[in-house]
Amino acid sequence: MSALIEKLNWRYATKKMDPTKSVPEDKVERIVEAARLAPTSSGLQPFEVIVVTNKDVRAKIQEIAWNQAQVTDGSHLLVFAAWDNYTADRINRMFDLVNEERGFTNEGWENYRQMLLNSYPGRDAQVNFEHAARQAYIGFGMSVAQAAFEGVDATPMEGFDPAKLDEILGLREKGLRSVTILPLGYRADEGDWLVNLKKVRRPKDEFVSVVA
Ligand SMILES: Cc1cc2nc3c(=O)[nH]c(=O)nc-3n(C[C@H](O)[C@H](O)[C@H](O)COP(=O)(O)O)c2cc1C
Repeated sequence: MSALIEKLNWRYATKKMDPTKSVPEDKVERIVEAARLAPTSSGLQPFEVIVVTNKDVRAKIQEIAWNQAQVTDGSHLLVFAAWDNYTADRINRMFDLVNEERGFTNEGWENYRQMLLNSYPGRDAQVNFEHAARQAYIGFGMSVAQAAFEGVDATPMEGFDPAKLDEILGLREKGLRSVTILPLGYRADEGDWLVNLKKVRRPKDEFVSVVA
C-alpha cells in the first residue's frame, strides 16, 4: 500500500481531541501549504485560509458550530474562506502575478485573461461565490490529506453557521465568505465513539468504472 493511501486509511473525522496536545507549527504550516498548492480553476486561487489559535475566538466559533468540541479541543482551527465574487481586480492580480513571476507575457495567456474578464465579473455574485467555494473545497481536501500525511488528526466540518462565522472573523469586510472549517489536533485516548469503528466506503465496483 502506498504511504499516502496508508495515511488516508489511518485518518478519520476525529470526534474527540486531546485538549492538552498541540500541533507543532511546522506541521500546521505544511497543512496550509498543501491548500496553497491546490489546483484551482484558471489558477485564480479564489480562497484564503485563516488559522485561528485564539481560545476565546474558537470558543465563540464552537457556539455557532453545533457546539462541536473539536473546535476548542484541537490546537488550531483552519477556516477556508472563498472570495465573495470575482472582480476584474482580483482576476488581473492573479494574471499580473503570473506574468511577474514568470518574467514574460504571452498573447494566448492575455487572451485568456480577457475572456475571463468578459465573463466572470458580469455574472451574479452568488454564482461566482459558489464557483470560488468549489475551489476552496479542493484546498480543503488537500489539507485533510496533508494532515493525515503529518500524522495530525483533523475533523473536516461544514457543521457551522457560515454567516455567523463571517461575522466573528470579519470576513465579509474582506470580501470573503466562510466555506468549511478544519480543527487540527490529536485524538483523545478515550471518549471518541468513531476511532475504533471500521472505515466504510462503497465498494470499488460501485465507485469506479472504466472506459477502455
Ligand atoms: C465537507 C465535509 C463536512 C463535514 N462536516 C462534518 C462536521 O461538521 N462534523 C463532523 O463531525 N464531521 C463532519 N464531516 C466528516 C464526515 O462525516 C466524514 O468525513 C465521513 O463520514 C467519512 O468518515 P471518515 O472521514 O472518518 O473516513 C464532514 C466531512 C466533509 C468532507
